[in-house]
Amino acid sequence: YHVDWDLSSAEKEGHDWFMRKEIFEQPRAVADSLLGRRTATGQLQLDEMRLSDQELRDIDKIIIIAAGTSFYAGMVAKYAIEHWTRIPVEVELSSEFRYRDPILDYSTLVVAISQSGETADTLQAIRHARTQRSKVLAICNTNGSTIPRESDAVIYTHAGPEIGVASTKGFLTQLVACYLLALYLAQVKGTRFGDEITEVVTQLEAIPAQIESVLDGADSVYALARSHASARSVLFLGRHAGYPVALEGALKLKEIAYLHAEGFAAGELKHGPIALIEPGIPVFCVVPPQGRDQLHDKMLSGIQEVRARGARTICLAEEGDERIEPYADHLIRLPRVPVLLQPLVAVVPLQLFACELASLLGHDVDQPRNLAKSVTVE
Ligand code: G6P
Repeated sequence: YHVDWDLSSAEKEGHDWFMRKEIFEQPRAVADSLLGRRTATGQLQLDEMRLSDQELRDIDKIIIIAAGTSFYAGMVAKYAIEHWTRIPVEVELSSEFRYRDPILDYSTLVVAISQSGETADTLQAIRHARTQRSKVLAICNTNGSTIPRESDAVIYTHAGPEIGVASTKGFLTQLVACYLLALYLAQVKGTRFGDEITEVVTQLEAIPAQIESVLDGADSVYALARSHASARSVLFLGRHAGYPVALEGALKLKEIAYLHAEGFAAGELKHGPIALIEPGIPVFCVVPPQGRDQLHDKMLSGIQEVRARGARTICLAEEGDERIEPYADHLIRLPRVPVLLQPLVAVVPLQLFACELASLLGHDVDQPRNLAKSVTVE
């Protein structure tokens, strides 16, 4: 008697790829990453904190270092930290960091974001920071890995093991950790009232159900991927927190679909990228929520510009945004969330699109050519 039982398909829980399984695990991963962060008195707490509140209050500059997808989480973190704490933040690729002789001292906090905790460039960067007496805080998904071991403080993400080389649930949980860090610093520095911090935490706690609703629309994203199976180039536009989302959407397509894909800040279009627009080119547009500021209007005019030149616009816009309708050749609806949190829901359709397209093209989605899950050489 022989059971033809493929172990790896059991591990994939019915999904064809680990990546797809991991995309669908995101509601749980986000919820787990939020667990246990509040004390009985409602104060935020981090996992391992070998820094005193006074040391944290003395911090006058933050440098975030990371590679790949983690770098894009860092870009979102900059918006959140600066908004809630007013501490200036720089975001830098860890491979570039050491080589420019960065200005570091004891009042600089270096935040290293790494899913694996083993990326060589990021590890060397934190070692350099520590020789300059800077404090290092790690955001990491792997317990006991080298980067958190060599850091002064750690926030662990609780994505669970990520097998697909292209990061998905790792990214979402890094975003959660970044928001928590920003709020924690705001709490320690007193730059935001407790009520406001609690309000954001409550908004974060609503996110898993909202991601679930985006995942409910997976089939229409798959249909979209089918209709783009012969695309040769795909562009992504975003503004504010939507800009790193655009970059991440493009990275996913490069990594697993081997497609030429590029993300741009929508406002930069006129300074070059618009020359790339030719009839029929698909352009994903991450539309900011309709708010008081001009972000939404500015994005709309960018979308009109590319559409007037023949681009096929695929717009990701919140429920109830009717103004986008005339400009969208295809519309993907997002749940309504504040602009800073929008990456948590906006990136999900882009992950689904890349996964489906790569799969249709016959590529090994989990183990793309030339890439490694963790890059332990500089
Ligand atoms: C590799 C992986 C990416 C990842 C990057 C950074 O390039 O293929 O998915 O984003 O490394 O990895 P880390 O473990 O430091 O987050």
